[in-house]
Amino acid sequence: MRVLITGGAGFIGSHLFDAFTRRGDDVTVLDNLSSGKLSRLPDEADLRRADITDAASVARIVGQTRPDVICHLAAQIDVRRSVEDPARDAVINIGGTINLLHAAHQVGARLVFASTGGALYGRNAPIPSPEETLPAPEAPYGTAKYCAEQYLGLYNRLYGTRHTALRLGNVYGPRQDRAGKRA
Ligand SMILES: NC(=O)c1ccc[n+]([C@@H]2O[C@H](COP(=O)([O-])OP(=O)(O)OC[C@H]3O[C@@H](n4cnc5c(N)ncnc54)[C@H](O)[C@@H]3O)[C@@H](O)[C@H]2O)c1
Repeated sequence: MRVLITGGAGFIGSHLFDAFTRRGDDVTVLDNLSSGKLSRLPDEADLRRADITDAASVARIVGQTRPDVICHLAAQIDVRRSVEDPARDAVINIGGTINLLHAAHQVGARLVFASTGGALYGRNAPIPSPEETLPAPEAPYGTAKYCAEQYLGLYNRLYGTRHTALRLGNVYGPRQDRAGKRA
């Protein structure tokens, strides 16, 4: 299978890179290295340095690699930064996802989107929160992830695709950035 991982030089994306590579899949990484690190990937990795907000670059890389699946993990992940600069957060987390969806449509790729479980439900949500719980994000980051999920749903209704959103909880483990609040 041909796989494109956006954010593949990141904490979670690099583990995904390893898992697909171990299976023998043909993996390409798209990352702007804003928080990603080259050291998380082997030297021989096919890394395309690009920004998901750049629609032309996204279209070119997707057109060249023609993935079966795009695992879309590239994101502005800092909740506090999203409060300070909500417009920039939306450009990356909503606009960037739309660029990926549009490019995926051109080549018939399926998109798997890393949404959030931790920042989507409001403070009164039951724990654990079933998927039916109505989202009530308390920061632009969660709102943008929810909006991006809605775009996935829209594309599925428009084009009969099977794009999927995964609402990850808080993930921790090896290769996690030790700086900042998350650590
Ligand atoms: N870590 C968690 O606990 C957690 C929880 C829920 C959801 N998620 C989601 O999982 C995904 C991966 O998270 P992570 O913890 O591995 O974060 P990370 O910061 O380690 O990885 C994000 C990667 O995306 C890249 N990136 C950022 N902006 C980009 C842009 N504009 N264009 C191209 N590449 C860009 C970064 O360089 C980095 O390599 C994110 O979408 C995040 O929202 C993470």
